[in-house]
Amino acid sequence: MLRDIRLFGDPVLREKCAPIEDLDDEIRELIEDLQETMYEADGIGLAAPQVGVPIRLFVYDIRDPDVPPGVLVNPELLEPEGTVREDEGCLSLPGLSDIVERDESILVRGLDGEGQAVEFRADGLLSRCIQHENDHLDGVLFLDRVSPLKRKMLLRKWQKRE
Ligand code: NI
Repeated sequence: MLRDIRLFGDPVLREKCAPIEDLDDEIRELIEDLQETMYEADGIGLAAPQVGVPIRLFVYDIRDPDVPPGVLVNPELLEPEGTVREDEGCLSLPGLSDIVERDESILVRGLDGEGQAVEFRADGLLSRCIQHENDHLDGVLFLDRVSPLKRKMLLRKWQKRE
């Protein structure tokens, strides 16, 4: 089922999301809905708070034949290496994007959609995507990671859009 993507300004996007204790049917349904909603919006990642559910879960698919799509529950990002600056956008801020500095490579730990423990190193676009989605679980948006001046410009552009 498609869910409405919450836009910047919705307080749920600023919540510190709660860990998931039980991967029950409700959560499994949410995972399917997140995937469906992400593909419909042509995004490469979507976090639960973006559809109004403040829990620690996101889905991703960077559309790379060498990188399988995934689900992460209660993720932890560890052992960052290097930094990269690339353009980044967000389904909750359609029309906006800016250069954001991220860790080049990270170790990802968490559970998959079946509740199995996973651990892998991510780099390139996958690393950026996972850091972006993980930020959503802490109520952080990409525009919090640009300079105050850039943020002001982005916010002005956003207000004009509405
Ligand atoms: Ni986003």
